[in-house]
Amino acid sequence: MCGIFGYVGDRQATPLLLEGLQRLEYRGYDSAGIATVDDRRRLDVRKATGKLANLIGVVQQAPLAGTVGIGHTRWATHGEPNDTNAHPHLGGSGKVVVVHNGIVENYQELKDNLIARGHRFDSATDSEVIPHLIEDLLDQGKPFPEAVRLAALQLKGAHAIAGLHADTPNAIVALRIGNAGGVVVGHGPGECYVSSDLPALVSLTPTVTSLAPGQMAVVRANGCDISTLSGERVPLQKQTMASNPIVAAKGGYRHFMLKEIMEQPEVAMSALRGRLAFDPGSVTLGEVPFTPDVIRSIARVVLLGMGTSLHATQLGARFIERLARLPASAENAAEFRYRDPVVDKDTLVVAITQSGETADTLEALNEARRHGALTLAICNVPGSQVTRIAHGTMLMHAGPEIGVASTKAFTNSLVCLLLLAGHLGATRGHLRDEAVRDLVDTIARMPGLMGQALEMNATAFGPLAAEYARYRRFLFIGRGLLEPIAREGALKFKEVSYIHAEGMAAAELKHGPIALVDPETPVVAIALKDALYEKMVGNIHAVRARKGPVLAIATVGDEIIAEHANHVLWVPAAPPLLAPMVATIPLQLFAYHTAVYCGSDVDQPRNLAKSVTVE
Ligand code: AGP
Repeated sequence: MCGIFGYVGDRQATPLLLEGLQRLEYRGYDSAGIATVDDRRRLDVRKATGKLANLIGVVQQAPLAGTVGIGHTRWATHGEPNDTNAHPHLGGSGKVVVVHNGIVENYQELKDNLIARGHRFDSATDSEVIPHLIEDLLDQGKPFPEAVRLAALQLKGAHAIAGLHADTPNAIVALRIGNAGGVVVGHGPGECYVSSDLPALVSLTPTVTSLAPGQMAVVRANGCDISTLSGERVPLQKQTMASNPIVAAKGGYRHFMLKEIMEQPEVAMSALRGRLAFDPGSVTLGEVPFTPDVIRSIARVVLLGMGTSLHATQLGARFIERLARLPASAENAAEFRYRDPVVDKDTLVVAITQSGETADTLEALNEARRHGALTLAICNVPGSQVTRIAHGTMLMHAGPEIGVASTKAFTNSLVCLLLLAGHLGATRGHLRDEAVRDLVDTIARMPGLMGQALEMNATAFGPLAAEYARYRRFLFIGRGLLEPIAREGALKFKEVSYIHAEGMAAAELKHGPIALVDPETPVVAIALKDALYEKMVGNIHAVRARKGPVLAIATVGDEIIAEHANHVLWVPAAPPLLAPMVATIPLQLFAYHTAVYCGSDVDQPRNLAKSVTVE
């Protein structure tokens, strides 16, 4: 996850910016930079690839002056990690500088228009279009804050941005669109800070203002003015942050589980960074250690996991079959390891494990290696045991997942699996250049769509929890790519609310489970506008005919589902490959709010461990 930090006050900004970036290092990065404006309105930038120590060395060689500045730690999204692509990014005049967390989904169109109007670009990043858009508006006479606001309105996707203007001294303009990442203002005595998250401010000030999506702040030494991106003023609200690091680590959320659900658009971007290129479209997975010839020799793929990770394998198998036309199967790791499985040197075995320490998954992977298979891990913990067993590891980059119920690691494993499927398909020649370009454009929409799903239904979960917490058994049903999501939704629900839930393919209902359906057995039906929608509508009718309550997950605006279901949770219309990540979100939130209503220990549910390191 990229990190943003800014300072404005009466102290020299440079040391404060570097310290702020050091407190954001936990987010992971591959380059960093800072910019300041001095008292003679000279704006200057220093950047370095690699660790912060490299940037500190550059700054020591060529110090920066000024009491206002911004800094950034970057996970490369577009363009490789190097000094040119590192943030902050300047516009052509050298008077505007910006740091950015997000993906400008429409950056190619914006960049082409700007180039047509004479702008020149240095980097291969999407972010660099932002300072150029701002300069265009400054040239039209707009004041800097207004120029930033109007530029932001042209951006598609989810974003967190901070910027400086040499001719608007002693002010930082920061804004947030969607859920690309936080923007928090810290209020100190005669100085203010801007940060991506609360932990970076804990040691500086207890008084903070968190921007909501769609808000902008003009931050000065003596405070800040908040407005919406449509220009309306917003009353300034200050919160006092708990000094307790654990409470601060929850980022103001009541539970880690909720914080990690809300982080998903931002961490999804972290899983994409450095793996997607737009111009031309390509998926680059440097961490997959197999040559194109080896990839072309793969005859089939076996995916292994347990629990939520098993559900990820079921989606991974479908992605690989669809995009690489390779036979792919999802296996419970504990069953696989004892079966003397038929795998060999032409089999790619992919182990999915958030912790990298799940005993059954580790042993299953060892079994695969004993059979000579190619092995790859998809894992969220660098240096965990699984990374030392597999030939290669794709890291999920979801950041530490504290809640026992896995949420952001699950969706990031799906992102990694979608990228892996695209990589296999492109390398094996099944996906031609145009198809790869379309896939990359589709995948880039994911964080924005997940952010929209998080913002929908916001007021629905409390009443739904109160309505459904009294039932003692649930069925969760879905079809196609959403069948594993039904299984995952049921697991999330039961493990935190302690209410029994069973996930299944909707087509299975008539083969037995419908015997359970009665007024005391709600059915959660994932019925998005996709190729199997009509079948799902039929399933809903069958449940309602037996007086079973139906809670549907539906595409926003779907009046048919609204007419037949008892309650509906809405998601934005999404391409089929992204529907699983989007549909997961309301199911996670339904599980979370029901658990809170039931009084469960949400972050550490009874009987469960975050990592099952024994059989
Ligand atoms: C997820 O919500 C569960 N806590 C559990 O099923 C978990 O997914 C499973 O134990 C596998 O863990 P891993 O991903 O760390 O291997």
